[in-house]
Amino acid sequence: MKMIIIQFGGTGDLALKKLYPAYDHLMAKGFDFQVLALGRRFKDRDQFVSTMIGDDASQYFLDRLDYLHYDMEDDAAMQVLAGTLRSMVSGSGQVELIYYLALQPSLYEEAIRQIQEVDATLSCACELSKKIVVEKPFGFDFESAYRYNKILETAFTDKEIFRIDHYLGKEFMQNLLIMRFHNDIMRSIWDNRSIESIQIIFDETHGVDQRLGFYEQIGVVRDTIQNHIMQIITYLTMNEPATLSPEDIAIEKVKVLRAISPIEQFAMGRYESLGAHSGHIVDTPTYAAFTLFVNTYYFAGIPIHVRTGKMQKEAKSLIYVKFRNTTAQVMHDTSIAENGVIITIHPELTIDISMNLKEPNTSWKSKPVRFRFNQAETFGANTPEAYEQILQKILQGDKSLFPTMKEISESWRIVAPMLSNDHAMEVYPVRTLPRFAHHMAKEHHFNWFT
Ligand code: BG6
Repeated sequence: MKMIIIQFGGTGDLALKKLYPAYDHLMAKGFDFQVLALGRRFKDRDQFVSTMIGDDASQYFLDRLDYLHYDMEDDAAMQVLAGTLRSMVSGSGQVELIYYLALQPSLYEEAIRQIQEVDATLSCACELSKKIVVEKPFGFDFESAYRYNKILETAFTDKEIFRIDHYLGKEFMQNLLIMRFHNDIMRSIWDNRSIESIQIIFDETHGVDQRLGFYEQIGVVRDTIQNHIMQIITYLTMNEPATLSPEDIAIEKVKVLRAISPIEQFAMGRYESLGAHSGHIVDTPTYAAFTLFVNTYYFAGIPIHVRTGKMQKEAKSLIYVKFRNTTAQVMHDTSIAENGVIITIHPELTIDISMNLKEPNTSWKSKPVRFRFNQAETFGANTPEAYEQILQKILQGDKSLFPTMKEISESWRIVAPMLSNDHAMEVYPVRTLPRFAHHMAKEHHFNWFT
């Protein structure tokens, strides 16, 4: 079957940094497809390739990559796109068109309308199937997500719609489920009888870089909290699914999300130099911190403290699961440390379990030591990038790594209070943690793990 990915946002940052390298790797693995990049930035393919595609792209990929100057505001562009697609599919027996939207959410409605129009004019003496892939954030808020979905469903069935959250393609996410549900010792300690609190820390060193135009409209809540962070929370706290099938996992994820109240207590900030050269003030949050609770029987009462954002001193992504320390009380020894599980995602994927063991040459003194799993050391450094895993599933028509519409809607409901523009915004110097993150820790009597 001939597969063509029609890449909306083909000259954007995501396509450049993540999608094109992933397409290249997938082709090297034997997946057979073509890519038609659409964009306004370049007039022709030569300009596009010389500016957008790095030297390390393979010739094989370049031979299967085409470019079309496409201005969504110009009605004539649709005719050109339809004509290009007609000539690409002619003579083929079976064809699949994969429309991939990597655009500002505000452009989705129009893009979908145009796809429907192009789609209606396409006909070939072949068997034609289609898929649509929509990048996160899916929508701008609860209402718009619902509206986009309605429009999408007029042209595509749910099976044909792939809503992306690339975190589901990450090895650590999939490992969370395996770690929790393939190990009896983990199952029996993974609830509010043993866990005292959870921290999720996602600090990035980069700013919004080339994406100011996009980010300005999005901000940290829509960029990472409504999607990546909410998905991590579901993986950490879902009950055991009947099987690890996508349907069964989705059922449990929705239960978690429905058990979370809208986040009313939060703080946000933006880094000082955000949009400094744009000629206008960009007052979009780039950092946020909050605490939430998952009110299910086994997780109620465990505070989940989250902090995430840009322009930090060190790139750190980790989850810290802190266990209760009844032992210190029972043994009348406050020097006994708590046990914990530390899942580090960045700079490298490791899982540590910390335990207290005897310090040599002491009389019954213990010291926390870590038992470590290191993904690269154990399995080699060749784990595919998240986008590669996600794109592979799309090509294969496998929906196991995609959030459902229910999950997306529930996540919008949870973050809704954070979306209004009228909350206080701390302006933090670059490479520093906003003050509110320290205040929050003090107020809730905990220390950030790092
Ligand atoms: C993206 C966000 O979805 O995720 C970015 O748009 C963020 O702002 C990125 O930096 C983080 O993803 P990763 O894969 O680099 O952890």
